[in-house]
Amino acid sequence: NNYALIMAGGVGSRFWPVSRTEFPKQFIDFFGVGKTLIQSTYDRFLDICPAENIFIVTNEQYVTLIKEQLPAISDNQILAEPIMRNTAPCIAYGSMKIAELNPDAIIVVAPSDHTIANQPAFKTAIEQSLTAAAATDSLITLGIKPSRPDTGYGYIQYTENTLASDEQIHKVKLFTEKPNIELARTFIQSGDFLWNAGIFIWSARSINNAFKKHLPDMHEIFQLGAQTYNTDMEKPFISNAYLQCTNISIDFGIMEKAENVYVLPADFGWSDLGTWSSIYDMADKDYVGNAVIPSDQVMMFDSSNCMVNMPKEKLVILQGLHDFIVVESNDILLICPRTEEERVKQIVADVKGKF
Ligand code: GDD
Ligand code: MG
Repeated sequence: NNYALIMAGGVGSRFWPVSRTEFPKQFIDFFGVGKTLIQSTYDRFLDICPAENIFIVTNEQYVTLIKEQLPAISDNQILAEPIMRNTAPCIAYGSMKIAELNPDAIIVVAPSDHTIANQPAFKTAIEQSLTAAAATDSLITLGIKPSRPDTGYGYIQYTENTLASDEQIHKVKLFTEKPNIELARTFIQSGDFLWNAGIFIWSARSINNAFKKHLPDMHEIFQLGAQTYNTDMEKPFISNAYLQCTNISIDFGIMEKAENVYVLPADFGWSDLGTWSSIYDMADKDYVGNAVIPSDQVMMFDSSNCMVNMPKEKLVILQGLHDFIVVESNDILLICPRTEEERVKQIVADVKGKF
């Protein structure tokens, strides 16, 4: 009864220009390991559920990329969205489609742009959560010990109360998605908050009930098409359904509101590859802290703590540069202090469409 729903429709704008709308980060092999992020994600789940139970939700424009990178996946396992409406519609659609195949399904919802260093620990945490979700009406998320007041994450405050069936899975008191920096600092100082890993485990029944309660319009939109799912009528139904959906994430739409949210504190070498800094943190660095991917043709003098990602064939010379990001892809070069990279997202939004 175990299923995986992998979300792969984001555009990864903070990795611009290497991650582009036409070729977002989940389809990139950032560390040169021979696997893209989505291929690694898929492989992690092959170890946990049957291959035919792994579904990918993505934008229509990435279906070809999915088929290229995951050739074992069948057409019915690829859910194509006509427009981007964030993660709530993508999960509502996926959960109802899976429920039509198997009303007793237990689903792991996972992003496609993370790295997980310790697969055995990841597998244990997921299997433990799947067992708990099958036995209870709970929305379970995995919680990571935070290391800094990052405003890009959801924050979870949990209580001492646990599930009767599993005393490691705690009742959540407060779920706050992407707090402002002051609030994030308060959370970190208080010491009893975890980061939301963005990996959710629940039964198809529990999540569909949560949609009914907290996003009833969205629930109705996707419920109306239930009999079309897994048939030829699904695609035309979905094209129309998405036009009626509001743009909202699962975190704001459900997790902040639901009262049956639980967290399993977990430690499996999780990293959200959200920014160049996160790549920098994980990459191999030289003795003065420069991370260079790939390293063939980059020459650095009196330079330290830089993150450099340039096309292989380009000779790059850096003199006296400290704490900078230098990244190039095709026809675009970006140079930005590492401390200001949060601005990249906004800059991309501003310059988009100008060339
Ligand atoms: N199919 C589809 N459609 N996928 C989407 C869409 C969409 O419209 N929007 C985003 N995704 C995918 C992304 O590709 C990514 O794999 C995942 O959904 C999460 O979206 P992000 O946009 O990366 O979310 P976030 O990182 O800002 O926040 C989430 O993850 C954090 C941990 O990484 C939240 O769940 C936070 O609470 C959490 O801390
Ligand atoms: Mg993310």
